[in-house]
Amino acid sequence: MKRSSRRSKLFWDCNAQRVAGGGHPIEGAVMLSLERFSGIEEIDPASATITVRAGTPLEVIQKAADEAGFFIALDLGARGSCQIGGNLSTNAGGNRVIRYGMAKEMVLGLQYVLPDGTLVTGLNKMLKNNAGYDLKQLFLGSEGTLGIITRAVLRLHPKPGSTHAALCGVESYTDVLRLLTAARKGLGPMLSAFEVMWPDYWHEATVTVPGIRQPITGQHAFYVLVEMQGLDEETDGARFMGWVEALFEEGVITDAAIAQSMADVAAFWRTRDAAGEFGTVLGPHCAYDIGLPVTAMDEFARACRARMERDIPNALSVYYGHIADGNLHIVALSQGVAEQPMKAISAVIYDTVRDFGGTISAEHGIGLLKKPYLGYTRTPEELALMARLKHALDPQGLLNPGKVIDIPTGEA
Ligand code: LAC
Ligand code: ZN
Repeated sequence: MKRSSRRSKLFWDCNAQRVAGGGHPIEGAVMLSLERFSGIEEIDPASATITVRAGTPLEVIQKAADEAGFFIALDLGARGSCQIGGNLSTNAGGNRVIRYGMAKEMVLGLQYVLPDGTLVTGLNKMLKNNAGYDLKQLFLGSEGTLGIITRAVLRLHPKPGSTHAALCGVESYTDVLRLLTAARKGLGPMLSAFEVMWPDYWHEATVTVPGIRQPITGQHAFYVLVEMQGLDEETDGARFMGWVEALFEEGVITDAAIAQSMADVAAFWRTRDAAGEFGTVLGPHCAYDIGLPVTAMDEFARACRARMERDIPNALSVYYGHIADGNLHIVALSQGVAEQPMKAISAVIYDTVRDFGGTISAEHGIGLLKKPYLGYTRTPEELALMARLKHALDPQGLLNPGKVIDIPTGEA
């Protein structure tokens, strides 16, 4: 087949987004698409729930919730193309976890098919339901290895009445932590995002990626995007402005741009979403979504960068992420090399994660690529229990074969 340039660009983009490889079939596997099992089945304003089919694109659900006067909290860059069934089976994170939790925390009810064909319907709408085991949790985040999600009941939230954002320059990691504490205290439950970008990331995102405006100029040790979703434009806007000014006077931040409009909010987010363009501007690279105690993030970044420079020729690694959730993203590569030394880079990153007592995946899951490292984060007893669960539900290893955990040898 002849490859057009557009096609090869798409190929790079996909390659760049491959953080876990959970959706890549192994040889001989059959792909199952729920694309045609799509649509909203019900919106229940009193329960504040929406019942959806697994193939519904996230953005369709967001729009339906909005039209009904509600807000669906899950949001991520792929909103237009990703389907809710995939979001739930991977327990997607995204940008507002700090306020609303991960995808699984938005689910009240679930319907799924087991590998033996049993359809299990638990389309619960009640916030409280302690009747026995919470079975749906097994299917949220298990990456399609235990069952296939077909329908879900999701929680709806009140539509935010106002959104405010500031992009702050901060000069030390201690001050980033002070800013986080102040955000939790001063903005309370209205704090909807706290994203931190290290200078190496900032450079690639705002200089190397074309067309991204820098909301603040000058060199800073950290760039922090703080977002607040309030209920009332007038009172919340003044509260947010006062909060930023006080931090400036206390010296916690040295510079800040405050969004004056939703267009500004979107422009601030573009500095963070620019990571999605790295496949095009940096070429082939490895991407990680590790988790660490919040206090250890900067020390980790320094250690990791130093080890990258020691072990990887022409190393570049950049750091950014959902710091308040203890989730750091890393983009790492050997510059100028088409075939990335992925094993060597992963060894650097995951060895450092292990040294710092973190997790190899905070939000993207294990899939295929991180499977060899699962033992860095889970105990032998946890791994054995995962394998027993897999064997109990899918003894023939039919679902998403080869991913996350293997059935104990001799039992398949
Ligand atoms: C992000 C995706 C990669 O946070 O999780 O940009
Ligand atoms: Zn992320």
